[in-house]
Amino acid sequence: MTVDAQNPGRTVTTPIAAAYPEMAGKTAVITGAARGMGAQFARGLATRGVNVVGGDINDTQMKETAQQINAELATESLVAQPGTVVGARVDVTDPDEHEALAQVALREFGRIDFWINNAGVFPFALVDDITREQIALTLDVNVEGVLFGAQAASRHMEQGGAIVNMSSVSALRVRKGRGAYCTSKAAVAHLTESLAVELGDKGIRVNSIAPGYIDTEMTRWVQEDPAALARALDSVPLHRLGAPEEVFGPLLFLLSDSARYVTGHSIAVDGGSRHV
Ligand SMILES: NC(=O)c1ccc[n+]([C@@H]2O[C@H](COP(=O)([O-])OP(=O)(O)OC[C@H]3O[C@@H](n4cnc5c(N)ncnc54)[C@H](O)[C@@H]3O)[C@@H](O)[C@H]2O)c1
Repeated sequence: MTVDAQNPGRTVTTPIAAAYPEMAGKTAVITGAARGMGAQFARGLATRGVNVVGGDINDTQMKETAQQINAELATESLVAQPGTVVGARVDVTDPDEHEALAQVALREFGRIDFWINNAGVFPFALVDDITREQIALTLDVNVEGVLFGAQAASRHMEQGGAIVNMSSVSALRVRKGRGAYCTSKAAVAHLTESLAVELGDKGIRVNSIAPGYIDTEMTRWVQEDPAALARALDSVPLHRLGAPEEVFGPLLFLLSDSARYVTGHSIAVDGGSRHV
């Protein structure tokens, strides 16, 4: 791992080395996979032999991302037979679109083993100013989107499976201007526990990940404002932003057999920022 001297706070990381051979041949559905962490999750799973259906409201970018990952896998993969990434459209606020996404996975790959509720929005509005539309959209995408995704997964995980929901350090620590977002992510953390308690009967484990500042489009505003970046890094004991690959490592563990007795849990991947 090295720090990029041209970009203070940014980090260039080596790929996560962990391999879980038992995952090859399985199928994952990932929402919000056109870019950012979702795209990295798709890439990381496919290089380990997992077939992926990536869904995003931006279906043009989703299809381009899928094509790009498949092209990379043709020349570089951790296993002899990498997975295939299929891109599809989904608006996670609509339960029927989740079902359609599940049907793509069943048609293309015949099974669903993993479901990652990753799509999210991150609006800025002070409490005095939050509009009805802003709070509704935030809860629709970030909370209902997780619920509808879990419902679709639960209907189709016939041999059990694992669901991972993207919560946030914002579920644990509030920030000015992020009232709607923090509320939505706290709800995701709690919903994850409810899902785990109910879906255990079907052999489905449900966990969440709570990232801190991760280097994606969602945190571009921090990276482009030196004062904001300095403030952000002050609150991170490891003094740098995380890379999507560094969230992928814990995700991989949660999906794997190594975590087969772990459910209803949240893993913070935040460089320690929840404590500051
Ligand atoms: N980046 C961070 O620092 C950070 C920190 C904590 C939590 N998270 C969470 O991690 C997840 C991924 O974040 P990211 O940084 O990769 O974000 P990102 O903005 O780069 O990607 C989010 C993706 O979700 C898609 N999306 C938005 N609304 C959608 C909808 N209604 N239906 C389907 N897709 C939709 C977007 O098109 C986009 O491709 C989000 O849930 C986010 O809240 C991110």
